[in-house]
Amino acid sequence: MQKPNANREKIIELLEHAGGVTEESVREVHRQTGIAEADIWGTGLFYTLLREPGKRIRLCDGLTCQMFGADSLATELAAAGKSVERVSCLGQCDLAPASLDEDMELVTYAKHQTAISPPNDLAMNLAGDVDLNYSALAKVREMNPEDVIAVLEASGLQGRGGAGFPAHFKWTSVRQQAETERYVICNADEAEPGTFKDRELILRQSHKMLEGLAIAAFVIESNQIYIYIRGEYTNEYRAIERALEESKDALKDFEFTIVKGHGAYICGEETALLESLEGKRGMPRLKPPYPTESGFRGKPSLIHNVETIACVPAIIHRGGEWFRKLGKTEAGSKLYCISGHVVAPGVYELPLGVSLDELADAAGGYVGNPIAFSPGGASSGFLPISERALPLDYKHLADAGSMLGSAGVVVINDTVDMAKAAAWQLEFFERESCGQCAPCRIGTQYIRRQVDQFIQLGDPVSLELTGDVGWEMEEGSICGLGMVAAKPLESARKHFPDAFKTRD
Ligand SMILES: Cc1cc2nc3c(=O)[nH]c(=O)nc-3n(C[C@H](O)[C@H](O)[C@H](O)COP(=O)(O)O)c2cc1C
Ligand code: SF4
Repeated sequence: MQKPNANREKIIELLEHAGGVTEESVREVHRQTGIAEADIWGTGLFYTLLREPGKRIRLCDGLTCQMFGADSLATELAAAGKSVERVSCLGQCDLAPASLDEDMELVTYAKHQTAISPPNDLAMNLAGDVDLNYSALAKVREMNPEDVIAVLEASGLQGRGGAGFPAHFKWTSVRQQAETERYVICNADEAEPGTFKDRELILRQSHKMLEGLAIAAFVIESNQIYIYIRGEYTNEYRAIERALEESKDALKDFEFTIVKGHGAYICGEETALLESLEGKRGMPRLKPPYPTESGFRGKPSLIHNVETIACVPAIIHRGGEWFRKLGKTEAGSKLYCISGHVVAPGVYELPLGVSLDELADAAGGYVGNPIAFSPGGASSGFLPISERALPLDYKHLADAGSMLGSAGVVVINDTVDMAKAAAWQLEFFERESCGQCAPCRIGTQYIRRQVDQFIQLGDPVSLELTGDVGWEMEEGSICGLGMVAAKPLESARKHFPDAFKTRD
């Protein structure tokens, strides 16, 4: 393994401060760090926010923004003489169509505000009180770390970042390592189309996240905490800075570092995130070893999603059993994002395992005649509306050939062409593939091109080989992106065969 290099870790930040990747900035960063210029070019160009310095509007191309007219908006803006770049999902699906202005501030064209679940007695309650005393952390300080992990195990908390892996296993694994230099890392790189729950959690309840991180650090005997937040979340970055300032006494034993992402969705994959933290291109690592054994700087690292970690203070206060019972079919409450064709898109905290109908009810009901939904971000593909009663949890959705993933639910009504919906999702994966495995690099391009050709020519022969290519991608990719990138097409063809028949 390469030795950690403190200079290397700085290069992305230095390029950002220099305004992006230019001949001058690369030379300057080379002078400051001693890293070869070719290496700095290669790293900087990987990140879209560094790649094209200069002011422009960044208009979201995510599924929901496309459903709500991103294409015509782009034409209007261009006609008005604006410089517009089309970018992957901005995490504002509830406010679609959305863009960032030239100063990276959010602009939305939606006629409503985002909705959040009203105060209730669930675990993290987005609308609940803020505890500036950090009393769960104080309680943990009086406990044996093994007992804290036992409470976590009793809670049944599964990682909310997508895979649903039981949290307590990771805490135990880090504690079992002989190495004492250890890290806690918060994954706030949320960038999956349909997903914006971490955004609301950070904006409204940063302290819950910070307290959960401090508890985790205490238990794994570390004081080093990193928060990796996507670069487009400007307000959220400020919210964390504010919260750290407000809680500096309670958190004085811990060293927090906030690191900005620079426009690469793949950096949400935990090992790509580690590469990025180490100042490299965000390319996923082969696993094992898992980050709990060899993570940041090759040291044991506990990586959690924002929502997972924000559940921890309430679990400590009210006990594992209490949290477990909050769920309907699986443990705990869950932040569901819902956007698309519902009355009040937003984030709703509900028992884990509610159905689409129950979630849509919380969001004011459906708009028009719903035909499909994507239950957990682009990676989950599409399900037909006939599955509206299925529990939205890890197990039932996996059994149905889909996944809960990031719980970014998008509802689609009969005004949308399902072939187009698939094409929009495929474009996302093509753009965001890191390119290191051939099946993913080539397969994402091939499948998207074939679907575009089908939409243009109306001849299903264009799709003939896409199933085989999708299989190759699933089997031959290093990380989850390549494994699921063909899912939008595969599921759309399975559940909506009429949308893929010969067209005039
Ligand atoms: C392509 C890809 C993108 C991902 N993006 C995110 C993300 O933005 N945020 C996140 O928490 N997890 C993301 N994950 C999952 C992480 O790899 C990892 O499982 C998670 O951060 C672990 O935290 P948890 O145990 O709390 O879920 C992604 C995974 C893949 C394969
Ligand atoms: S599957 Fe795709 S995104 Fe993942 S490592 Fe391979 S090329 Fe990169």
